[in-house]
Amino acid sequence: MAEKGNKVLDVQKISISFGGLTAVSDVSFEVYQGELIGLIGPNGAGKTTIFNMLTGVYVPTSGRIIYNNKANEELVANGIAPFKISRYGISRTFQNIRLFKQMTVLDNIRISMHKDIEYSFLGAMFKSNQYLRTEQRFYDRAVELLKFVSLDEKKFEFASNLPYGEQRKLEIARAVATGAEVIFLDEPAAGMNPAETEELVGLVRKLKEEFGLTIVLIEHDMKFVMNICERIYVLDFGILIAEGKPHEIKSDPKVIKAYLGEEI
Ligand SMILES: Nc1ncnc2c1ncn2[C@@H]1O[C@H](COP(=O)(O)OP(=O)(O)OP(=O)(O)O)[C@@H](O)[C@H]1O
Ligand SMILES: [Mg+2]
Repeated sequence: MAEKGNKVLDVQKISISFGGLTAVSDVSFEVYQGELIGLIGPNGAGKTTIFNMLTGVYVPTSGRIIYNNKANEELVANGIAPFKISRYGISRTFQNIRLFKQMTVLDNIRISMHKDIEYSFLGAMFKSNQYLRTEQRFYDRAVELLKFVSLDEKKFEFASNLPYGEQRKLEIARAVATGAEVIFLDEPAAGMNPAETEELVGLVRKLKEEFGLTIVLIEHDMKFVMNICERIYVLDFGILIAEGKPHEIKSDPKVIKAYLGEEI
């Protein structure tokens, strides 16, 4: 990377404990505009807990989380409700997929665009021109996003009818549909077959290149992580043990030790 852009996320020494257990301890890292960052570590290392703090689900016991968006507005995210963080341009997917199962594929996308709504309640009731124009715009954009993840032909199916890999892709499209600048993907390749994982590599790259998104992803599939991420942070027992480019991470003795017995 030639020159680093704007720092979009600055995590300063965040910690959280659950009862007696310190799940995340003094973790600091930074993410720059347009980067594709990996967050890896063995099971229970605290990866999802970090995403939960970054998106307002959990409030860190100590430390600070600071976002800076394209409009250069700073947001100190500690203790801010998830919907407010989302409005600021932060979006995510979940390790255990959370779609609206009894809604169509299309409506799962449309519902996450609601923060852009421009018409009034009365406008909607009487189907004003503005309402119809806005709905058309949402429809077009939703279909465009579904094409992007190759799901446009399934737009009228219930989300619950999609195979697992397609549900993951739909969740990613939904995260993008919010108009996010930064997205967090929690194990996007989990449960995907090799062909789907291969397709996901192209998809995530396109999110960065065509949508200009900044992406942080958690993943256990090391081939995927090493192939796609520009920089990687490694967590073990709630502590950050390494940071670097994929080839540096692969040969780091601390990382090898943390993953003892596993292939990286
Ligand atoms: N709400 C909670 N209450 C109590 N303990 C929790 C809670 N959330 C997470 N933990 C604990 O924090 C630790 C880190 O969990 P976390 O889910 O962040 O791990 P992870 O790195 O995402 O693991 P995996 O790779 O298995 O998804 C675990 O010991 C977990 O049991
Ligand atoms: Mg997890």
